[in-house]
Amino acid sequence: MDMKKLAAILAEAGQSHVLQFWDQLSPEEQAEMSLDLESMNFMEINTFFKNAMKTSGQSSKEKVDSRMEPVPREVLGSVTRDHESLKEWEEEGLRCISENKVAVLLLAGGQGTRLGVPYPKGMYDVGLPSHKTLFQIQAERIRRLEQLVERQYSRKCCIPWYIMTSGRTMDMTKEFFSRHKYFGLKEDNVLFFQQGMLPAVDINGKIILEGKGKLSMAPDGNGGLYRALATQNIVKDMEKRGISYIHVYCVDNILVKVADPAFVGFCSLKGADCGAKVVEKNNPTEAVGVVCKVDGRYQVVEYSEITLTTAEKRSSDGRLMFNAGNIANHFFTLAFLKEIVSTHEPHLQHHVAQKKIPYVNTQGQLIKPDKPNGIKMEKFVFDIFQFAKTFVVYEVLREDEFSPLKNADSQDGKDNPTTARHALMSLHHRWILNAGGHFVDENGTPIPAIPSLKDGTDLPIKCEISPLVSYGGEGLENLVTGRAFLPTLVINESGVHELVKNGL
Ligand code: UTP
Repeated sequence: MDMKKLAAILAEAGQSHVLQFWDQLSPEEQAEMSLDLESMNFMEINTFFKNAMKTSGQSSKEKVDSRMEPVPREVLGSVTRDHESLKEWEEEGLRCISENKVAVLLLAGGQGTRLGVPYPKGMYDVGLPSHKTLFQIQAERIRRLEQLVERQYSRKCCIPWYIMTSGRTMDMTKEFFSRHKYFGLKEDNVLFFQQGMLPAVDINGKIILEGKGKLSMAPDGNGGLYRALATQNIVKDMEKRGISYIHVYCVDNILVKVADPAFVGFCSLKGADCGAKVVEKNNPTEAVGVVCKVDGRYQVVEYSEITLTTAEKRSSDGRLMFNAGNIANHFFTLAFLKEIVSTHEPHLQHHVAQKKIPYVNTQGQLIKPDKPNGIKMEKFVFDIFQFAKTFVVYEVLREDEFSPLKNADSQDGKDNPTTARHALMSLHHRWILNAGGHFVDENGTPIPAIPSLKDGTDLPIKCEISPLVSYGGEGLENLVTGRAFLPTLVINESGVHELVKNGL
């Protein structure tokens, strides 16, 4: 496209300022910038901005309390309250996996700005004894699950792994998997695809420049999934493989049970088209979205959208009335996703996220603002709950299944590498105890199962079990029953290792 035409399109959209440094760019920079600009639809971006601002203006004013209802008991499955059904759900999930009907889909297109590393979050090593990354842990859980199913059903099975990346994470993610030989998975069954990007804008909708010839671009939120499913032909690939059920999850939860058979089985037996895994919100002021009904339709309501009085409401059993804490861990049927992609996706509104966005000022200097100066437009993965015909909720224990990595260690002590590492090791400690093993200190004195928090430290026992040995605590009896271990304990495919004893 020639420059005049491009300038006219920008002028029509009120975005001519992005060319303010054009004459200062080298021919190569000009060529690169015009390629970027040609690929964008500025009128569409303006409409996204207008609609997002309209909805965000409404939601910041209006509280939804009076229109909210909690999740009814009949659509709820709980690992604690429905203990007697767990086996049946799990068997159903394993059966679906054995028929190659289950896929997992990883949301890994985020920028991980709070963690602040210059590479994708899945490549992060939280400092476990094995130094495995989040990607490796997830890959090995998939391998183990396939193995368990193959043993039970005496036939080969495959859980395809769809990995959504963005312009910011794609190349590094692909290179990492290739360098690590897909962590033992078949390359054909690990499928990368890319979500869309949108420019960041100021509060008047003007696109922000992060360089003289470069727009500030950001992925369009984890709900960008639905547009990408169509544009990247992922739905078609799922159809070709005969997939019926998809487990969607976030890259940053170190405890995630990928393709969790009990969750899949529960949703399938309930005939659900859409399901959400939740953990109990037990503190009214915890800043977590809750799954509930608003005007009779399911959605996630953020803490900021309700009053404290509603957040504090309790049911007759003493639990918070709105306690279904969303952990971005979802079940969808392929039929449901197809309907979303073909019918509803274009009508989903972007949400407004106010951020500190580095920009070049009119003198061409790069400024890093210390307070929010602009807006990123994002869709959310849970925006589609409202379209479900049969929606179910599956409640799990936080300490078993949810520990997200959001912040760097130096920050507020929450959701960081240390908490993630501790959560995994303390889960594995419990697995050892359940399987009949226990721990001793260097004098051979048994360490109590529930360690006391005497000197204010609640450091977990150092213990790590490879997902290749156990997916959810199974299969450990032969290795640990009746045995005492000195931490650090590592159990992997090559056996049981006490690192201190061995001087490691
Ligand atoms: P978060 O909203 O926590 O964002 O993403 P983030 O990128 O990990 O971290 P910050 O906010 O920049 O610090 C939750 C999940 O959604 C994915 C992330 O990769 C993570 O798994 N995500 C987020 C996407 O896939 N695409 C996006 O555009 C945004």
